[in-house]
Amino acid sequence: MLELQSIAKRWTPKGASPRVLLQDINLQVQPRETVALLGPSGSGKSTLLKIIAGLEAPDAGRVLCQGQDITAKPPERRGFALMFQDFALFPHLNVQDNVAFGLVEQGLRRNDAREKAQTMLQRFGMQPYARSKVWQLSGGEQQRAALARALITEPKVLLLDEPFSALDADLRQTLRAEFQARITSSPMAVVWVTHDEAEARSVGARGFRLVDGRLLPVW
Ligand SMILES: Nc1ncnc2c1ncn2[C@@H]1O[C@H](COP(=O)(O)OP(=O)(O)OP(=O)(O)O)[C@@H](O)[C@H]1O
Ligand SMILES: [Mg+2]
Repeated sequence: MLELQSIAKRWTPKGASPRVLLQDINLQVQPRETVALLGPSGSGKSTLLKIIAGLEAPDAGRVLCQGQDITAKPPERRGFALMFQDFALFPHLNVQDNVAFGLVEQGLRRNDAREKAQTMLQRFGMQPYARSKVWQLSGGEQQRAALARALITEPKVLLLDEPFSALDADLRQTLRAEFQARITSSPMAVVWVTHDEAEARSVGARGFRLVDGRLLPVW
């Protein structure tokens, strides 16, 4: 289980007074549960995901995973996966090596990691693209490859930051259903950030809106 306890974060723009981005954020997400996070641009959604991932430190509060305080744990030791819309894949690696990346980082031998990546790509119907350059793929294929890369390490927590924001409406809908099916088949706690309320309602058993630094339950 992922748990946020009284998370707070301020941000001081250059030459301006400090702004409260997050205040007293409390949230629990169970394994196999997806929580949707809505909120206006600049409200701190990505910042909250970065705090969960360990890429940013909160000013106050704690992040717990399975009851353990991991607030000070570096991102690579959390066993979490992140998927952002931008720079989702490494442009200098082919698809297979992108997918294998997390396993190599965990210390698996490159050939073993590639073999596992092949299996993963097969499951995603992406094997024909294994040797392709990332920029040769369509937007939807890139996001599929990014999800394969996120899931291959069997993360305890999956953080999705606007995964479909660059895709057209039809493709968003197709991928939404596909991602949901893949995500719910593993025991992860998922936080899914999106601007799109219809998407949020379809993916999230519970939904929250980040307004003035606070997390308001919407459903
Ligand atoms: N290093 C930083 N740490 C915290 N906040 C920052 C930092 N740099 C910029 N900010 C500001 O914090 C605010 C929140 O940014 P954040 O990216 O979390 O918003 P968001 O809700 O994800 O917005 P969007 O929907 O546009 O992606 C923005 O005003 C941003 O400019
Ligand atoms: Mg954002």
